[in-house]
Amino acid sequence: MLIYFDNAATTWPKPPGVTDAMRCCLDDKGANPGRSGHRMSLEAGQVVDKTRNAIARLFNIPDRDRVIFTLNATDALNMAIKGSIKPGDHVITTSMEHNSVTRPLYGLRRVISVTKVPCAEDGSLNPRKIEKAIRINTRIIVITHASNVTGTVMPVREIGALARQKGLIFIVDAAQSAGVLDIDVQDMNIDLLALPGHKGLMGPPGTGILYVGERAQVRPFREGGTGSHSTDPGQPEVLPEKYESGTLNSPGIAGLGAGLEFISQTGINTIREHELGLTRRFIESAGRMPGVKLYGPGAEAERAPVVSFLLEGQDTGAVGGALDKWYNIACRAGLHCAPDAHRTLGTLEKKLVRFSFSYFNTASEVDFALQCLRDIRGRDLAEITGGCSC
Ligand SMILES: Cc1ncc(COP(=O)(O)O)c(C=O)c1O
Repeated sequence: MLIYFDNAATTWPKPPGVTDAMRCCLDDKGANPGRSGHRMSLEAGQVVDKTRNAIARLFNIPDRDRVIFTLNATDALNMAIKGSIKPGDHVITTSMEHNSVTRPLYGLRRVISVTKVPCAEDGSLNPRKIEKAIRINTRIIVITHASNVTGTVMPVREIGALARQKGLIFIVDAAQSAGVLDIDVQDMNIDLLALPGHKGLMGPPGTGILYVGERAQVRPFREGGTGSHSTDPGQPEVLPEKYESGTLNSPGIAGLGAGLEFISQTGINTIREHELGLTRRFIESAGRMPGVKLYGPGAEAERAPVVSFLLEGQDTGAVGGALDKWYNIACRAGLHCAPDAHRTLGTLEKKLVRFSFSYFNTASEVDFALQCLRDIRGRDLAEITGGCSC
């Protein structure tokens, strides 16, 4: 049986109900939502509305029309970053970001300036360093809520309060925290929140969300048919259409709705406790194992259910490959699309093996993986090739 510890990339399996909701949407409500006046199109629109409402409830979004469906978290971050930044702006970010933040900023490097505030060796961020980085032309702060390499949780509430006090736009990448940690856009003063639908929210790949707050002035980069205001020459100002041109992924959104329903029925606290229980179990045992070096915060710290490590003397890719080929454990070995985070940790050369847990993992799977690592430590991995993704 496959043990799947790659939930930070996308969660698997999905909860019961996700596939059925997608099939039902395709088979019975397969018309284009929000386009036509016939019953099937209206029913497809209701499926989309239901998921939009559920997202608004989970993140305390005051107006559901500010929930914009996207392709994934990367798409949402591109919309937020490229749509808000103006030439001459100074942007503050951190040294623990995913490429979906750093690459859009790099792409704008000729017209903006960027400060990457350095994080500590465990990935943690001192919010005072953010305050010190603010300049006269700073307009945006963009940070991850939880690192996808170490699981370190960033002080989002403090930075949100600071951003609001200084009149800055605050963009949060919640790719690793949505569905695990509590997020309240009002309480945390978040202006733009980027979410993947397919990770902790347990929907299918191809789903993501951008929350656009009232203070954010985001230019849409996708323009076209919205099923409304058709005689207007330009993109309508009305939400959510302003940011949702083209046919929506209604089967994906239906599946995401079922994922959110599962979270609401199970309870986010129950999900978090289970996932963090597994994370602690792994850290406590692996931390005592000779030859294992763990990165990131300790077992008791506030964190996301993501943990990275290396086996001293063994090639990281080969460890990932051996876990897959010999023991049927799927994890991710490499740079996790976050080279800055690896620079911060000092692991750019060696890279890391990452385990990321979901509600559907069990303690016995963790114990088995620990046993496998004990075994792999002393073995010759020369025959293993191609376990790394960089
Ligand atoms: C911290 C972080 N941000 C952004 C992303 C991009 O998410 P997506 O795959 O939904 O585009 C990821 C993906 O792993 C991530 O871990």
